[in-house]
Amino acid sequence: RCLSVSVLCLLPQSALARWACVRACPPSCSCTQEKSCSVLCDRAGLAELPREFPCEASAINLEKNRLKFLSERAFGTLPSLKSLSLDHNNISFITPGAFKGLSNLLELKMAHNEYISYLHTRTFTGLKKLLRLDLSDCNLFSIPDRIFIEQTAMTELLCFQNNFRRIPGAIRGMENLTHIYLERNKIEAVAYNSLQGLGSLRYLNLQENRINVIHDNAFQDLVRLENFYLNDNLLSNMPRLAFRGLSRLKMLNLGGNQLINVSKTWFGDMAELEVLYLDRNQLLNIEEGAFENLTSLITLHLNSNNLTTLPLSVFQPIYFLGHLYLFKNPWECDCGLDWLKQWMESYKLVRDIPCASPSSVAGLDLSQVVFPTANGTCVDPAELNLTTASSEVQPTTENRFNSLISKLLQQELREEMGNGTESARNATLPEPEEGQLSAGVGGRGTQAVQSLLCFTVTWLFCGLFHLSHAS
Ligand SMILES: *[C@@H]1O[C@H](CO)[C@@H](O)[C@H](O)[C@H]1NC(C)=O
Ligand SMILES: *[C@@H]1O[C@H](CO)[C@@H](O)[C@H](O)[C@H]1NC(C)=O
Ligand SMILES: *[C@@H]1O[C@H](CO)[C@@H](O)[C@H](O)[C@H]1NC(C)=O
Ligand SMILES: *[C@@H]1O[C@H](CO)[C@@H](O)[C@H](O)[C@H]1NC(C)=O
Ligand SMILES: *[C@@H]1O[C@H](CO)[C@@H](O)[C@H](O)[C@H]1NC(C)=O
Ligand SMILES: *[C@@H]1O[C@H](CO)[C@@H](O)[C@H](O)[C@H]1NC(C)=O
Ligand SMILES: *[C@@H]1O[C@H](CO)[C@@H](O)[C@H](O)[C@H]1NC(C)=O
Ligand SMILES: *[C@@H]1O[C@H](CO)[C@@H](O)[C@H](O)[C@H]1NC(C)=O
Ligand SMILES: *[C@@H]1O[C@H](CO)[C@@H](O)[C@H](O)[C@H]1NC(C)=O
Repeated sequence: RCLSVSVLCLLPQSALARWACVRACPPSCSCTQEKSCSVLCDRAGLAELPREFPCEASAINLEKNRLKFLSERAFGTLPSLKSLSLDHNNISFITPGAFKGLSNLLELKMAHNEYISYLHTRTFTGLKKLLRLDLSDCNLFSIPDRIFIEQTAMTELLCFQNNFRRIPGAIRGMENLTHIYLERNKIEAVAYNSLQGLGSLRYLNLQENRINVIHDNAFQDLVRLENFYLNDNLLSNMPRLAFRGLSRLKMLNLGGNQLINVSKTWFGDMAELEVLYLDRNQLLNIEEGAFENLTSLITLHLNSNNLTTLPLSVFQPIYFLGHLYLFKNPWECDCGLDWLKQWMESYKLVRDIPCASPSSVAGLDLSQVVFPTANGTCVDPAELNLTTASSEVQPTTENRFNSLISKLLQQELREEMGNGTESARNATLPEPEEGQLSAGVGGRGTQAVQSLLCFTVTWLFCGLFHLSHAS
């Protein structure tokens, strides 16, 4: 194909490049003017490939034509070609060796060819420098295990929206892969060796498959993984060491599965995790300490589950959680959630916690529920006689005192967080005991609480003294 200009290609490139491009620009395509020209043949109604391409071409765009078939060496020899797009055609067969002669190709796009259901082992022969391959939205059921034997440099593989029933064995050991897109296939399991040897992987998308089995240590080689989508699968349980080794993970999406329990061990290695999605499952139970090593967590999505209660111990020790999503759960708003209500009021990081029970508060938001205290302890709404409740729920001095503390604490925290300093650290106070309020802010605020308590007590006394004198 390129023969007619191959002699010219041997001459000094700068002198001839532009001329070569213009001369060999295929009919019904246009070619840009620069030295390494782009050949634009998209939406040209082509049913067959042009007979030749300019051998200086660095990019060829053949998107949205009616190409059906690629013969061996379909593009001839194009040593400068870096990028080739065949998206949105009607390709059903690719002859082995079709891309031979494109030895410097970096990117090959063949997405949206709905009749590609089969690829020969030697389909990509000769593409030794390929970095990015897009086979999305084709009709692939599997690919041969050795199909990428020459593509060891590949960094990005896009295969979303196909019919894979398992993770292609071909990716095993591809140590330079950084991004894998396998969403919207029919994958059913992640075996212990499915993702072996992918030590550079930073992004893995397995969402919207049918995964219901994950083996222990299935991800242990993914030591650089940062973003991991496992949402909208069929997971109802996972083994205790399913996520072992994912120590660089920043985002994990487990939403839209059928999980019932959250195991204490799943997130134990994820000290850098910032965002965790567990929404749209059927969670009834979160094991104590499940989040204990999530020291970087900023956002936690627990909405749309079957949670009725959330013991404070689940969150202990809690770090600086920024957002906690809890809506669409059948919350039982009894004294067990008193701490959460206080937390809501103090930090505004949580909102929208609709109560499903007890009946006396059903339909209210937790923020509207008043927990009366009797003799200093919280009394569950269910146990109160509603008609007399209103008279018993007179705000006591103690209640006002508590709310004052949380207001002051909130202000203090804002200042602390805003400046990122630990200004309250050097107070000459004894180590405070772990109390309810301090637990809510992960220990950092404990000393602040203590000093505020002292301060507030003094302030109240002064106020009372002042009042009694005034009257
Ligand atoms: C695409 O290819 C398939 C099978 O090869 C054929 O049935 C179909 O008519 C083709 N569609 C177009 C638009 O050419
Ligand atoms: C990965 O890429 C580096 C250069 O980026 C290269 O030296 C190495 O050989 C590649 N690995 C493989 C298996 O090709
Ligand atoms: C979930 O946890 C509960 C209580 O800890 C236990 O009885 C149940 O067997 C667990 N279910 C699963 C599916 O692990
Ligand atoms: C938290 O990390 C520590 C230290 O790495 C480890 O010993 C512990 O088992 C982890 N906790 C969980 C729940 O995995
Ligand atoms: C969760 O609640 C839904 C209805 O809200 C129910 O259909 C489902 O069975 C519950 N799941 C569990 C594990 O209780
Ligand atoms: C409060 O304590 C007193 C005496 O200790 C007791 O008689 C009373 O019943 C208690 N009230 C409630 C609501 O528990
Ligand atoms: C609740 O109060 C009403 C009216 O004051 C009274 O008739 C009823 O017996 C009380 N119920 C209980 C359980 O104390
Ligand atoms: C904290 O930041 C506020 C403004 O954000 C500033 O006015 C104040 O001086 C800072 N305090 C310290 C100790 O840096
Ligand atoms: C706080 O204490 C540390 C050692 O305990 C000391 O080095 C530091 O200067 C103190 N900071 C302030 C602001 O007093």
